[in-house]
Amino acid sequence: MIKIYPSILAANFMNLAKEIDSVSKEADGIHLDIMDGVFVPNLTFGFPLIESIRNYTDTYLDAHLMMIDPDKYLERFAKYVSSITVHFEAVTHLHRIISKIKDLGCDAGVSLNPHTPISFLEEILPFVDKVLIMSVNPGFTGQQFLDLTFDKVRKLRDMAQKKGYKTEIIVDGGVSVNNIKKLYDCGANTFIVGASIFHSSNPSLAIKELKKVVESFE
Ligand code: DX5
Ligand code: ZN
Repeated sequence: MIKIYPSILAANFMNLAKEIDSVSKEADGIHLDIMDGVFVPNLTFGFPLIESIRNYTDTYLDAHLMMIDPDKYLERFAKYVSSITVHFEAVTHLHRIISKIKDLGCDAGVSLNPHTPISFLEEILPFVDKVLIMSVNPGFTGQQFLDLTFDKVRKLRDMAQKKGYKTEIIVDGGVSVNNIKKLYDCGANTFIVGASIFHSSNPSLAIKELKKVVESFE
């Protein structure tokens, strides 16, 4: 099944409940971008908002941790979210962190910055549920999609297929109706979409259109 997780980083935070409502029928989950101002040059939000979102909706909450030392906070994230993805570049003991995320009852993911090769995943792949390939440099919504992503998605799909792993392959950053088909053909099965939904004049219509496009692939 192909999934779309809207990223609320692109939403209007003064209107967050309404923004979530506008996509909740079509969305397969909500993507939460947690930035620490150290690993990436931006700050976003933390537990007070995540807890409020958890109390507001039953949907799958997909946390993307763009932060150093995520291990300090895993228990707290696990109280609210269904899935935790950490950055390959931000942690030293990735296997230990992935095991801890699983022990806490969450899906576990690893994310790669645009310059980080897929080959670095070879040993960790059997332990993760998902790999999130950054198709922009992490930090901001609304950036230009990087074409180098297509090849990385293909390489990951081939690596997973060869070993028989059912890894969820996620693309995050600059995803739109213009590149989603090619990304799917390369092997991606989950799409994080921020600006193309929330910066459009009608987010509800924008996600409906994206869903219609991906449903035509299957
Ligand atoms: C960027 C974030 C993304 C971002 C995607 O660092 O990880 O989730 O919100 O948003 P768009 O679709 O606007 O590029
Ligand atoms: Zn993200």
